[in-house]
Amino acid sequence: MGTMIFAHRGASKLAPENTMPAFELAYHAGADGIETDVQLTKDSIPILIHDENVRRTTNGTGFVQDYTYEEIKKLDAGTWFSTKFSDTSIVALEEFLDWVHDKSIILNIELKNNVIDYKQLEQIVYDHLQKYQVLEKTVISSFNAASMERMKKIDPNVSTAFLSSKKVPDLPNHLKKIGVTGFHTKYRLLNSNLAKACRQHNLALRIYTVNRPMQMKKCFKLKCDGIFTDVPHLAKEYRKLY
Ligand code: G3P
Ligand code: CA
Repeated sequence: MGTMIFAHRGASKLAPENTMPAFELAYHAGADGIETDVQLTKDSIPILIHDENVRRTTNGTGFVQDYTYEEIKKLDAGTWFSTKFSDTSIVALEEFLDWVHDKSIILNIELKNNVIDYKQLEQIVYDHLQKYQVLEKTVISSFNAASMERMKKIDPNVSTAFLSSKKVPDLPNHLKKIGVTGFHTKYRLLNSNLAKACRQHNLALRIYTVNRPMQMKKCFKLKCDGIFTDVPHLAKEYRKLY
């Protein structure tokens, strides 16, 4: 199987990240997968947002964890990107899964719990994925190693990946200890040794955030398992060339 193209936060170059328009565009661009970020509201509803604070991607201020779901749903999550998206709101994980579960597209659900370690996030997300029967087509990832260990305890069969933006010494053993079978890392850390080590140890290697043609080329040539890109429509075109 070739390199899977994941739309990073949806097709986030064309629409506001982690919103339904971005996910719909990713699907229509023919992305193989969608990557999205999950955090919890004050009333423990999983929602899709990258930052712990709503300021950058909505018209609100303050932390996600201080909003109830009803309050956070009222925020405008589109105008910051373009006035075309002024009626766009934050998406609940449930809403996303309801839309995506029967589509032929794989998922990467990133638990955003490396800054705020939300209580029960793993179980809550797992229960949602199970309810919509998408566990088999989902990779769950996090920068928080303890969280991935907790996820493996919930279900040893779930596909998990550890995220790191830094070089990890003794990578295969580190990942083995956490119990993950995938490694998601920054493009600048990609080289042939990393690709080789992952292949040797049967670890899936996926690279973020790959937006330039030259970067895509390197990922495709090194046969990375996946890339996360804001421009899935372009990645699809470039993949044909390699
Ligand atoms: O999951 C890959 C990538 O999304 C991790 O970084 O900051 O974009 O969530 P970030
Ligand atoms: Ca992410």
